[in-house]
Amino acid sequence: MFEEGILLKSKIGADKVYDLSLGNPIFEPPPKFLELLRSYVETPSSGLHRYMPNAGLPETRSAIAQSISKETGLSFTKEDIVMTCGAGGALNIIIKTLLDPGDEIVVLAPYFAEYFFYADNHGGKCVVLDHDSNFMPNLDMLEDIVNEKTKMVIVNSPNNPSGAVYPKSILDGLGKIIKNLESKYGRDIFIVSDEPYRKIIYDDTAYNHVFSSHSNTIVATSHSKDLGLAGERIGYVAVNPDNENKDEIIDGLTFSNRVLGFVNAPALMQHLITHLQNETVNIQEYKANRDFLWENLTEIGYEVIKPQGAFYMFPKSPIKDDVIYVNKLRENNVLVVPGSGFGSPGYFRISYCVDKHTLHNCIQGFRKVFRDYS
Ligand SMILES: Cc1ncc(COP(=O)(O)O)c(C=O)c1O
Repeated sequence: MFEEGILLKSKIGADKVYDLSLGNPIFEPPPKFLELLRSYVETPSSGLHRYMPNAGLPETRSAIAQSISKETGLSFTKEDIVMTCGAGGALNIIIKTLLDPGDEIVVLAPYFAEYFFYADNHGGKCVVLDHDSNFMPNLDMLEDIVNEKTKMVIVNSPNNPSGAVYPKSILDGLGKIIKNLESKYGRDIFIVSDEPYRKIIYDDTAYNHVFSSHSNTIVATSHSKDLGLAGERIGYVAVNPDNENKDEIIDGLTFSNRVLGFVNAPALMQHLITHLQNETVNIQEYKANRDFLWENLTEIGYEVIKPQGAFYMFPKSPIKDDVIYVNKLRENNVLVVPGSGFGSPGYFRISYCVDKHTLHNCIQGFRKVFRDYS
């Protein structure tokens, strides 16, 4: 879609192509980010750009530990945190640490497609748990797909592509089933929570942390979306402080950071985000985009669940074949992504982290194609 977008824009002009296919944050980082950046550049401390411990700067890890202790009510210290190159880097070091070749990862549809490639990087294999009509995982099917090779379940809430936020009952239910399966198979099964959209959440929806649902829990996250720093590759892993093997896990993560070639997360970004744990981009702007799009699409007649977080919407395709529908939208200069790519055929993903011109002008294309098929 990225390539298609470039091609189409070069043919008919960028302002006539409504590209809602990418999850690239459009809002600038908060003003405090620029102030800090300026001060670090103008008065650099000695050694600012050197290597540091592979787990990251101690003061950065302490600031994060303090912030997530406050959020979760648990007692994190810097020893529970490893700084990473984004959430993608975080997931890769977790998978490298925990998986043996041939081990399996359960992913919950609709899922972020990169999980399959990350698993493959480390000799693992993904199996898919399907969802219900509200994009909640069918937990009663979990037992059928877990076996003696299952090592982890990846949870992504707020979800890309559906925007769903899992309630506590789902996370607790998942934790309970996994605990039983750990006893059945005599091995640890981890819940890995991939949560780069944790702070992009609407309408007073509660964010439920995964740590209270299971002790084998690890968070992978980043500031790609909440601080608008996707290109700067800064994120972290947080291991449940109550996990009895956490020291060994942290050693594995730190070593994997090194040997996968990340070595450490970018130094300057670590310094900056130390002071930005209470900041976010303006979430209200994403909310305004969500509301505008949802109201317009439902008025046209699309069946679409109002997202509670992230910046994606996942309407039902009015025809069975989502790829055909997405191609029809493209012929009308609207670019979105088929749900098949997220393990959910029959839907398509719209990214609403777009400028107002794109947001307002895409509606005519959505309306025309809907009418053509009615
Ligand atoms: C669900 C999900 N996980 C992980 C990532 C990777 O994030 P990062 O850019 O921090 O590596 C993304 C990026 O879009 C995502 O949507």
